[in-house]
Amino acid sequence: MNGAKSDALVFFGITGDLAHKKIFPALYGMARRGVLDLPVVGVASSDVTQEQLVERARSSLAEAKIDVDPSAFEVLAGHLTYVRGNYLEPDTYARIRTALGGATHPLFYLAIPPSLFATVVEGLAGVGCTTGGRVILEKPFGRDLASAHALNATLHARFEESAIFRIDHYLGKEAVQNLLYFRFANAFFEPVWNRHYVENVQITMAEKFGVASRGKFYEEAGAVRDVIQNHLLQVVGFLAMEPPSSAYPEAIRDEQAKVLRCVRSLDPAETVLGQFEGYRSEPGVAPDSIVPTYAAVRVHVDSWRWAGVPFFIRAGKSLAVTATEVYVELKAPPQVVFNEAAPAMGNYVRFRLGPDVVIAIGATAKVPGEGMAGAPIELSMTRQKTSDEMDAYERLLGDAMQGEATLFARQDAVEAAWRIVDPLLHMDRAPTPYAAGSWGPPEAMELTREVDGWIDPR
Ligand code: BG6
Repeated sequence: MNGAKSDALVFFGITGDLAHKKIFPALYGMARRGVLDLPVVGVASSDVTQEQLVERARSSLAEAKIDVDPSAFEVLAGHLTYVRGNYLEPDTYARIRTALGGATHPLFYLAIPPSLFATVVEGLAGVGCTTGGRVILEKPFGRDLASAHALNATLHARFEESAIFRIDHYLGKEAVQNLLYFRFANAFFEPVWNRHYVENVQITMAEKFGVASRGKFYEEAGAVRDVIQNHLLQVVGFLAMEPPSSAYPEAIRDEQAKVLRCVRSLDPAETVLGQFEGYRSEPGVAPDSIVPTYAAVRVHVDSWRWAGVPFFIRAGKSLAVTATEVYVELKAPPQVVFNEAAPAMGNYVRFRLGPDVVIAIGATAKVPGEGMAGAPIELSMTRQKTSDEMDAYERLLGDAMQGEATLFARQDAVEAAWRIVDPLLHMDRAPTPYAAGSWGPPEAMELTREVDGWIDPR
């Protein structure tokens, strides 16, 4: 694959949920910044007109509460064309080819069921569109290791790995990139970022909402496939990787893949699965479903740096709050110096990844007075998203158009992540019910007992 900029975007599934929620706002963001300079060909089987598609784009921006600049919207609308077609018919691809005009480096975005990937890729190849092109696909990349292999084989039949962009939108988040940046841009971090100083690492992805209209999708996914195999293991990778060299472009992805290779496959005996009460009555959900909407796991990173340091991950729907947070607890000071009734706690580093962005360092400082007594304090940086900040999808779409793959999941990392979660995909025990609005099944507390329990995001 050459480094040429993409000269057209073909979006399969343009009338779907992803386009509505994420892609129209991302394309509009590009138009507003003056960088939307390529035709956008939307493809779907729905019977909508070009005008209706433009209206869908408008309503997507309204729903996202975007303050629309009419001239930027005109740019978006002016670049949009619609090809209606059945993915099984060769004629659809001929019409896409025509819509592409003279474009020689199209970017194909497959927001369609994975069962159609092979058909679409072959359809595009049949009209000579894959040569010089790139392809973007959405997670989950397969359902397990075997299907991930098969999916990769399908894509690699027509695209080189460097032309395949697997979107994990967590990698496009500012706060997630800051994990990596903050670690390696500050010299004070490295000396303590290892098993000698770190007591344990916790990653919590709590969502107050349930599965809303996505019951059918969620039944196929469950918490492990939906967010642990991808988003949260990528976060583990950023937290645990070795310093990447700046000398070559694949360095970050190499280190990411290396650390995931060091992660032991998860152990069902160190896993708690839960399901919120009421899930089984959600539309699209089986009345006897045993799909977990909550999972808590212990992760072992068997590397020189992390041997013996427990990493814990928990993720769930219908929990007490919506917050994604990383909490790294450092070991307590070696001695009690001041003879306090409650000696100083260990320090911690807290990265709030969403919805707000916080980086905080926990410490203990002396309380004014005669005695040498302390109280916990937090040194923190909080940042609210600015209206001008790029959303993860805008960032990633722009990167893919430039052929810049650092923030996309690479095949080897994806396969390592499937290998890690594989033992949980075959568990057939029913998840423990938990009350909506709680912190999940009480058994999950047992998992972190040795480190005095979970730290709930505030
Ligand atoms: C998606 C999952 O990938 O990420 C959803 O499918 C989840 O279930 C979402 O809610 C969370 O993303 P964010 O950016 O809101 O943290």
